[in-house]
Amino acid sequence: MNGNYVRIFDTTLRDGEQSPGATMTSTEKMEVARALARLGVDVIEAGFPAASPDDLEAVRRIAQEVGNPSDGNHIPIICGLARATRNDIEKAWEGVRHAARPRIHTFLATSEIHMKHKLNMTRQQVLDRVREMVTLARSLCEDVEFSPEDAGRSDPEFLYQVLDEAIRAGATTLNIPDTVGYTIPEEFGALIAGIRQNTPGIQHCTISVHCHNDLGLATANTLAGIRAGARQAEVTINGIGERAGNTALEEVVMALNTRRSIFNLETGVDPTQIVRLSKLVSNYTSIVVQPNKAIVGGNAFAHEAGIHQDGMLKNHMTYEIMRPEMVGASQTKLVLGKHSGRHALKMRLGSLGYALTDNEMGLVFERFKLLADKKKTITDADLEALVSSEVYQPPELFALDGLQVACGTMGMPTATVRLRDPQGQMHIQACVGTGPVDATYKAIDAVIQYPTSLQEFVVHAVTEGIDALGEVTVRIQGENPSPVFDAQKETEQQRTYGGYGADTDIIVASAKAYLSALNKILVASGQYGPVEETAILSVA
Ligand code: KIV
Ligand code: ZN
Repeated sequence: MNGNYVRIFDTTLRDGEQSPGATMTSTEKMEVARALARLGVDVIEAGFPAASPDDLEAVRRIAQEVGNPSDGNHIPIICGLARATRNDIEKAWEGVRHAARPRIHTFLATSEIHMKHKLNMTRQQVLDRVREMVTLARSLCEDVEFSPEDAGRSDPEFLYQVLDEAIRAGATTLNIPDTVGYTIPEEFGALIAGIRQNTPGIQHCTISVHCHNDLGLATANTLAGIRAGARQAEVTINGIGERAGNTALEEVVMALNTRRSIFNLETGVDPTQIVRLSKLVSNYTSIVVQPNKAIVGGNAFAHEAGIHQDGMLKNHMTYEIMRPEMVGASQTKLVLGKHSGRHALKMRLGSLGYALTDNEMGLVFERFKLLADKKKTITDADLEALVSSEVYQPPELFALDGLQVACGTMGMPTATVRLRDPQGQMHIQACVGTGPVDATYKAIDAVIQYPTSLQEFVVHAVTEGIDALGEVTVRIQGENPSPVFDAQKETEQQRTYGGYGADTDIIVASAKAYLSALNKILVASGQYGPVEETAILSVA
């Protein structure tokens, strides 16, 4: 491989999905995997197949469909994670084996604290296990990645020994994780340089870096690792992941692009798709991107201070180190209006990177016309919200057919909802609440009768102006309704699920977001399994 090329290994679907509440349905995972392949990432870590039968199935589908593109375009490596155990490695292989380019990624902790308190293993036992398990993985798959977990806090001398074992057993990529986000850039860079110097055979392998953001240093550490010779970066979209998250893909890619003269390195990522993917992942995981988040935050390209605005008008380079269009951040204000036709809408969505089927276009066009009646100017951001709320949705088991609320200072906030159930039957319920959203959610609960608790409710306007579309994101957690204890079911049902809705009426948007999260939880509960395959619309 070209020595100036940095492989982008995306782990949004594995480490990212480990963020609290980031659970995605298997259809959502497929959509994210397809979008990642279009973005041009080199490796997609599709999941942790031994974690559950659902995880295995999701990895298998991604391997089969995204790992074998029919259009002959870029073929990403599809990777499955495995602890260093026979069962995990065999499950990972089962998951990825049908990909054109499969990879098994196995890991074992090497820091004293993990070996002593978590694994209860000696150094020698760790060395033996690494040899045995990498050998097993390599007997199944030609492409094997090994990670010494908590490498950032491991004794470097021991690390060289472990990596030596892994290389001799057939590992082709050695990933160095700063699992708990403990290191600082100089230290992490020196760790990678030390590994390059002291590990026999390392020159035949790719060194990878995998950093967590506990001290806010994940991107800086990743870049330090790359400067020290790593040629694979493990990242997630929006930096989602365990605790404070992982290194953000968009930050690494744009740092390498923007400071090319320093790094002199390239990636295969098409940066113009970054913002779209960021929104897709945010909608599916219901993890809202903070406004000041680098590259993809709502304010990343906003200029508020008069002095800055003045400078921007004279020359945008005064305050802008990259142009918003380079990452696909919408700039255009007036896009379409009431008189725009289906063709114009399709063209505009196409230029934003959406390839919708006729069915999906029909749904978006219908919403677009309704919106154009209420709102004079429709921007790219509005269109993206419409696509998210109409197309990127879980199967609609229960659908909102009507909603009416009465609220204000004079009485009791009351909501009446009409829902269509999976059999097409209508249900009407009215409830009183502390406010219109509470009343609406109570009325929905009265129809669906699935016990959940609301963990988070966020509302914000897509664009400026009183007629703006409101976006609502909710997160709910299931409460095990079964009187019989079932550990597997309990975990499934108690996971957190997110939902997204957009409408000019924020109570309607709130109802849609809540229903979207409830629909996900109902699918996960297994009561409506097959519906997912048929009901969701797929994005080309
Ligand atoms: O953070 C970590 O150590 C990991 C490993 C499994 C690579 O995610
Ligand atoms: Zn990790």
